[in-house]
Amino acid sequence: MILELSKSSLRDYFIRGFQECRAQTLELLDSLDEETFCCQAHPDFSPVGWHLGHIAYTESLWLLERGAGLDSIYPQYRKLYAADGLPKSERVKLPSIEETRNYLNAVREKVIDYIKVVDIESQQRLWRFLLQHESQHCETACIVLKLISPLTPPTASPLPLNPESQMIKIPAGEFEMGSNSDDTLDNERAAHLVYLDTYFIDRYPITSGKYREFMESGGYKDAQYWSDAGWKWLQLEQVKQPLYWCNDGAYDNHPVMGVSYYEAEAYAKFVGKRLPTEAEWEKAARWDEQANRSRTYPWGEQEPTQEYCNCATSLNIYQTTPVNAYPKGQSAYGMYDALGNVWEWTNSWFDAYKGFEYYPYIGYSQVYFDNQHKVLKGSSWATRQECTRASFRNWYYPHVRQIFAGFRCASSL
Ligand code: AVJ
Ligand code: FE
Repeated sequence: MILELSKSSLRDYFIRGFQECRAQTLELLDSLDEETFCCQAHPDFSPVGWHLGHIAYTESLWLLERGAGLDSIYPQYRKLYAADGLPKSERVKLPSIEETRNYLNAVREKVIDYIKVVDIESQQRLWRFLLQHESQHCETACIVLKLISPLTPPTASPLPLNPESQMIKIPAGEFEMGSNSDDTLDNERAAHLVYLDTYFIDRYPITSGKYREFMESGGYKDAQYWSDAGWKWLQLEQVKQPLYWCNDGAYDNHPVMGVSYYEAEAYAKFVGKRLPTEAEWEKAARWDEQANRSRTYPWGEQEPTQEYCNCATSLNIYQTTPVNAYPKGQSAYGMYDALGNVWEWTNSWFDAYKGFEYYPYIGYSQVYFDNQHKVLKGSSWATRQECTRASFRNWYYPHVRQIFAGFRCASSL
């Protein structure tokens, strides 16, 4: 990110950032009908329309009410759109697309007035938080749309995989994990040194082609590959393939997508490996041994674009790509696809780093430090640039498979 900006260019930077982010948000509404807008595709996921209203509500709460000290302009929406307002099952009777758009616009108009007078320098963290908040809810809205129409679009023929060494050796030593930069969220702080013994990590995420071998060897029927919790989950859910499974061989070189942590863990055992810890994933993705520093992105400091990874930009292809499609995006250690394409399960529980302080509210990260959520690293084809960086941490219950998640494996010496 840009470090040294004068006050007025910082202001312009945020105005532009907010506008670009919103343009992508509103794109989600293109060709959406009212029924889809209010559809609860899965009990754990609120409708697209709720996410859009919640974006406006959150922006209004933090910038207009708490920031500018204004009265809420739509107090009647509080109960509906506050994160702790209504249970998910009651988030289906929603204002129309038109009304929601008006709500978003009305809040945004006042926010643009406010940014012209606020001391933006002292509030960077809050404004960056809100950009990332909007981005993340848009990814969740993408998940809901995918659940409603899961059709996989036709794809170009896959690139050949490099047949050589598919695992990378990461030598023992310290690296810097986390980040104190202004655009990081509370859970990425504080940056700290972590020592790791030598280990190996897959160069690429596990592809559909590789995952098919597990399925065809009866992996879903054999308890020996599954942890106790995983097997229990499998018996209950009777899952037989990844949620977004597409058996078309044209996808064999794409990452597998739509697996729970338990399925990832079982596959790793099937191939005699294990899932990486969060630290192992992050070191392989961003540590630059030569420079003795951690990079913001695997490839360096250049902003994430389609040149480096399959992330959500206005040129979006809105689906996965072959795991070796972005050689320019590889890390110093040669790890591909760390950012973009699919999120990757790690075997670490989501927890606080030393020096953690919640921001801007306790419910953003801290209430999830409960040893029940696994960390996912990287990002997906639906993740906006604002949230695409190697220190970013995502978290979900291990049974969740609606998110755009896959994995890669690791092993010790
Ligand atoms: C980090 C994606 C798990 O959606 O629950 C949005 C992000 N937190 N609003 C979520 C979030 C509050 C969070 N995840
Ligand atoms: Fe939220």
